[in-house]
Amino acid sequence: MDKKNPVISTSVVDAVLDAHQNPDLGKATIREIVTIVNDIEETSGEKFIRMEMGVPGLEPSPVGIKAEIAALNRGVAARYPMLDGIKELKYEASRFVKAFANLDIDPRGCVPSVGSMQGAFANFMTCGNLEKKRDTFLFIDPGFPVQKQQLVVLGFKYESFDIYHYRGDKLKEKLESYLSKGNISAIIYSNPNNPTWVCMNEHELEVIGTLATKYDTIVLEDLAYFAMDFRNDMSKPYAPPYQPTVGRYTDNYVLLISSSKIFSYAGQRIGVMCISNKLFYREYENLESRFGLATYGKALVNRVLYSLSSGVGHSSQFALAEIYKQAVEGKYNILDGVREYEKRAVSMKRMFLENGFSLVYEKDLDEPIADGFYFTLSYCGMAGGELLKNLLYFGISAISLHITGSVMEGIRACVSQTGEDRFEELKMRLEAFNNVYG
Ligand SMILES: Cc1ncc(COP(=O)(O)O)c(C=O)c1O
Repeated sequence: MDKKNPVISTSVVDAVLDAHQNPDLGKATIREIVTIVNDIEETSGEKFIRMEMGVPGLEPSPVGIKAEIAALNRGVAARYPMLDGIKELKYEASRFVKAFANLDIDPRGCVPSVGSMQGAFANFMTCGNLEKKRDTFLFIDPGFPVQKQQLVVLGFKYESFDIYHYRGDKLKEKLESYLSKGNISAIIYSNPNNPTWVCMNEHELEVIGTLATKYDTIVLEDLAYFAMDFRNDMSKPYAPPYQPTVGRYTDNYVLLISSSKIFSYAGQRIGVMCISNKLFYREYENLESRFGLATYGKALVNRVLYSLSSGVGHSSQFALAEIYKQAVEGKYNILDGVREYEKRAVSMKRMFLENGFSLVYEKDLDEPIADGFYFTLSYCGMAGGELLKNLLYFGISAISLHITGSVMEGIRACVSQTGEDRFEELKMRLEAFNNVYG
């Protein structure tokens, strides 16, 4: 490779960007970037180092596949599953949250959803109708951009703040400044965090939980990366350390547990919502007048989920039930496969740092941020969109932090699609980039 020149001809990249009407890449959605990169790859014949989308880069759980095939062979495809999930999955999900998060949630409150995406959407619809005065959601950002899109689609309002400047003790005052207004129906965040891989600690979760109780707000805790803070081995059932969760500090919570990343089961679109025992049975006058059912759990299942998809694919429920069962019984280690992401993050971060990049979100309070699915990068004061565009010429794609609600400039890099076989190429591309811009 000629080090003075980019990897992909400038004219090819420019022509594709032109064809897409020169979008501001700082504001482009993940799927828009995916399409642009697909087009550049097709025109140039050059394969990108793709870091824009959190696609699982590992084989799907064999335990799940076996159970799913067996279920299909038994003929489940012909039958509608119950709205709130098959018995086996509800029971195993309840055991799973006990074994790995040390929370007691009855099987009744463990309800499958079509991915955590639908779990969030359904809970947004329900939370947005609890009380007339609570018409706004609060994101502890940076966050997963599609959840804001869901609120836009639903026509609900939201506010947000970036946790960057409000870690630890500073979180309480900041959160209280929103909650004390009385208009927040639910707080949402992911932990570990997409896009920054910030992992909130028990103290921060205690602050959130205590304030959620004080101001009677629901917490939608998105555990899409359940147990994937690899600094602590949370893979041993019924033994600490457990997945940190707000569920220890308030009864007003719903956990959204995806199976897409931890079990590489994204294609089957199944996740589980775990609704606290108290919240499941809690009655709201406004739910009664809006949906004809007063309790949170019933309105969520019998009105919202029924309307959205009438439940979740039957065979994938058997898959997830068996994965949970084997994990809880210690026959399957939930982190065995996904630790690969940690290894990739160590190597990839090093390559970026050796070539003039810096980590944007680099610390969890005093500790360096963990190595996991994502990390965040900046380069010589470039704005996120500009950095993203410049990297395209070097065959590297990512997303801008701007679209995640971050106040920082930079990009999010996802390690999932880059195996070790591409590391040498990544290194050469980064050196070439740094030679041009450094
Ligand atoms: C924070 C977060 N929440 C939810 C999801 C979606 O999960 P699912 O595939 O289960 O719908 C993702 C996927 O990237 C995510 O990063």
